[in-house]
Amino acid sequence: MKKNKILVIHGPNLHLLGAREPDIYGKATLRDIDKELKAKAKKNDFTIEIIQSNSESEILEKITNTAYDFLIINPAAYTHTSVAIRDALLGVDKPAIEVHLSNIYKREDFRKKSLISDVVLGVISGLGKGSYLLALDAARDFLNKKS
Ligand code: DQA
Repeated sequence: MKKNKILVIHGPNLHLLGAREPDIYGKATLRDIDKELKAKAKKNDFTIEIIQSNSESEILEKITNTAYDFLIINPAAYTHTSVAIRDALLGVDKPAIEVHLSNIYKREDFRKKSLISDVVLGVISGLGKGSYLLALDAARDFLNKKS
């Protein structure tokens, strides 16, 4: 049987994790997070592809031109600005979860508005790398129900 494929997209500046505002984003690097995601995906018998991009256009290409069964996306700063990412998600109509390391509702007012939240299945925000790992659990439950 064909394995389900999870696509994980980390948006702008997330390559700086570990060094970037550790009080807000934690000390884990993107490598640490990706390693855990890959191990968990393997346990669940998923194929996983993970990218980090600082470019909105590259993120759009990935969302719209890649084959996958479930998307986990941290749009980072684009969460609050990108009508284009919102439209791409609507355009492909694939199951997706928005994740954030920090709790965006506990921060500056401009972060409290997400252009993405109402076009995805759900949002996990504020649990550090746990936000990504829980999203993978949710992907598993969703895909199991579907099959
Ligand atoms: C973030 C929250 C965003 O507001 C911010 O621009 C980021 C990271 C998070 O994971 O907490 O870059 O998406």
